[in-house]
Parts: sequence; structure tokens; C-alpha cells
Amino acid sequence: MVADLLLTGGAGFIGVNLVRWWLEHNEGDRIVVLDSMTYAGNLQSLDGILDDPRLEFVHGDIRDTELVERLLTDNKLDTIVHLAAESHVDRSIEGPDEFIDTNVVGTHSLLKAARNTWQQEGGSWKPHRFHHVSTDEVYGSLTSDDPAFEEETPYAPNSPYSASKAASDHLVRAYHHTFGLQVTTTNCSNNYGPYQFPEKLIPLMLMNILGGKPLPVYGDGMNIRDWLYVDDHCRGIELAIKSGVSGETYCIGGNNERTNIEIVRALCSMVQNRIEGNQDLKDRFPNSPASSGSSNEELITYVKDRPGHDLRYAINAEKASRELGYRPAETFESGFGRTVDWYLENETWWTAVMDGTYKDWIETNYESR
Ligand code: NAD
Ligand code: TYD
Repeated sequence: MVADLLLTGGAGFIGVNLVRWWLEHNEGDRIVVLDSMTYAGNLQSLDGILDDPRLEFVHGDIRDTELVERLLTDNKLDTIVHLAAESHVDRSIEGPDEFIDTNVVGTHSLLKAARNTWQQEGGSWKPHRFHHVSTDEVYGSLTSDDPAFEEETPYAPNSPYSASKAASDHLVRAYHHTFGLQVTTTNCSNNYGPYQFPEKLIPLMLMNILGGKPLPVYGDGMNIRDWLYVDDHCRGIELAIKSGVSGETYCIGGNNERTNIEIVRALCSMVQNRIEGNQDLKDRFPNSPASSGSSNEELITYVKDRPGHDLRYAINAEKASRELGYRPAETFESGFGRTVDWYLENETWWTAVMDGTYKDWIETNYESR
């Protein structure tokens, strides 16, 4: 099946991994990336494939309905994969407005553009698919004994971020039910892997371990998340687009429930093992405690808890497994091992993000061409 995709948010963490995944696994497909380049958009993450003739980058906003209609029509695109969003819970607590504007109003604008373009006079539809990427956070918080979230779990979002994602899920559902738009939605757990902005737990902790900075663990560190390696998420999205039934939602998980403190300790120990006995790493990261024979765990610092902090997320991916053949390929050890190695090997990528020069890279290497 050849598809031509409009991928929104394709300069963000999951977006860049999905662009790479899709082009590798779908040689004949074309992708138009639409991204407004907020702080989270980073074209340096697409370095090496920006020149691929199958890829076009458009700097624009999903709320620009006319632009989206033009992109869909001019490029004869039949599939939207919608990832563009404000995605960080802590920012949504600091300032919820942008979350409503992008995640709710933006998703609605995209749905309108899809309908205006793909629905023909008389009401019939051109072949199309609107795939919406959402989160397990829409289901709220579990106790340690509750069964994991599944597709039928009632929505109970607790943060402005998860409430805005829940609203967007409902709009996608409504456009299917009322107008007949062909939609699929995936609700996945916490992603980790290459190119993740270092405000999220895993890259933040890795940068701080390497820089010898405190590791801020919220509350008692006993909150639980299910961790999904980003390529496994990309596999789930591809399966839902290709084999999913329109109108259905699929929960995508990693089978990796861990407390935050377990995660932080595991990262400390993985970096410790790589630095010990490796003079090159000791020279590159002299401030990491492991480089001077101390334990990285000395950096662990318990800080004030996040307001409204959800206790536990867990995913039952039985439906995706049964109906789509979805299975995560990475275990906790393999996925986190690959991630630690990627951040050790790609210091230039994350130092550019930390010092803000990643935005200059875009000017000198992309817009000037
Ligand atoms: P991210 O914050 O890294 O990237 C978001 C991208 O969207 C950025 O490139 C940003 O510039 C772009 N964007 C923001 N507003 C836009 C707008 N108005 N128009 C066009 N582009 C805009 O996010 P991510 O972690 O890659 O997440 C991608 C999607 O997956 C989001 O919808 C998020 O809710 C969902 N999700 C993420 C996770 C996770 O663990 N990261 C888990 C579950 C679901
Ligand atoms: P995060 O990566 O922000 O994802 P989400 O809030 O969407 O699950 O956080 C993952 C978990 O890690 C969450 O329970 C909050 C916790 N956390 C910390 O303890 N310290 C931190 O500095 C951050 C960013 C998160």
C-alpha cells in the first residue's frame, strides 16, 4: 500500500523518529512534515534525511486551516498522521492556554481541513485516513492494584495537558461518528529514545548524570509509568494506519512498568558501568560522579511533588496485539541500553538543545538552502 502522508509535529521527538521509521519501512511513500517549530521542534533531529526527495518540510501551523487544505490538495495526500501538540505536563501546569490552543483548537482545525478536502460534493469521500496520536494520560490515574488501562477505560484526565488531549480524542471521534471521516487513534504510554527534548524524565536525568547535576525526583519517586521505546510506538502507529479499523482506538504499551526512582537508579547504574574503565568517557564527562570514582546515585535529590501528580499509568495492549499483531520489540534492558548509548554518542545534539543553538543550526543548515 502506497500512502502519502501529512505528518504534523514531524520536527518533535516522536515525529522525527516516525519520519525515519516510515521512510525506512515504506520506500515508495512521500511525507510532508508540517511543524510550527515551537521550542520542541528541532530540525537538527532530521539531519541526514532533510535532503531525501520523499520528504518535504513545511514551517506552518496546524491551526492554519487553509494552509493544511492547500498542502493536502497540492500534494494529493491521502493520510494525516497527527502528532503536533504541546506535550509536557509541567508546562501545562505553568500555562495551560497554549495546550488548549494547539491540542484542542489545532486538532479541530486539522479535522476541518481534512473534511473540506477529502469529502466530495454529494457527501462521498475520497480514500483517506486520519490517524490521531494520543496518550494513556487521558484515562487518569491508577492505584497500584487497578487493572491496566484499555480502550474501554472511561476518560478521567487530571492535568491541563491530558484534558486537552482527551478533548482532541473526542473531536476525532465526533468527526468520524457525525461526518464519516475515517479515523484511527492510538493511546500510548511514556515514550523514550533518541532525540527527546531534555525536559522529559529520561533525557533530563541522563544529561544531569553526565554533567554532575542534581537529579530532581518528584515526591517520593514511587509514581509508576509504563515505558515504551519510541520505535515500538512507531511500529504501533504504522500497524494502526495499515490494519486498524476506522473508528477504533488502540492502546500501545511497552510492558515496562517501573517506579520513577527505579528508572533513575537504572540510568545511574547504566552510565556508571559505561564510564568506569573508559578513559574517553571520563575525559568527556569529568563532572559525572562515576568519572572520579563516586556513585552517580549521589546526585539523586527528592524535590517538591508535581501538583496533581498521577500515581500510575499502565497499558493493556491486548487489543492491538490481537487485531494488529502489535508487540514491542524492546525490553527494558535493551531499550534503555540503546537510549543511554545514543545520548553518549550524540553529545553535539543535546548540547545544542541545552545551550539553545539548535535553533541556529536550522538557520545555517536548512533555511539558507
Ligand atoms: P514534542 O513536544 O517533542 O513535539 C511536538 C511537535 O509539535 C514539535 O515539533 C512542535 O514544534 C510541534 N507543534 C506544536 N504546536 C504546533 C502547531 N500549532 N502546529 C504545528 N506544529 C506544532 O512531542 P512528542 O513527545 O513528540 O509527542 C508527539 C505526540 O505524541 C503528541 O501529540 C503527544 O501528546 C503524543 N504522546 C507523546 C508521548 C511521549 O511520551 N512523548 C506519550 C503519549 C503521547
Ligand atoms: P514526564 O517525562 O514529564 O512524563 P509524564 O508526566 O507525561 O508521565 O515525567 C515522567 C515521570 O517522571 C512523572 O511521574 C514525573 C516524573 N519526573 C520527575 O520525577 N522529575 C523530573 O524532573 C521530571 C521531568 C519528571
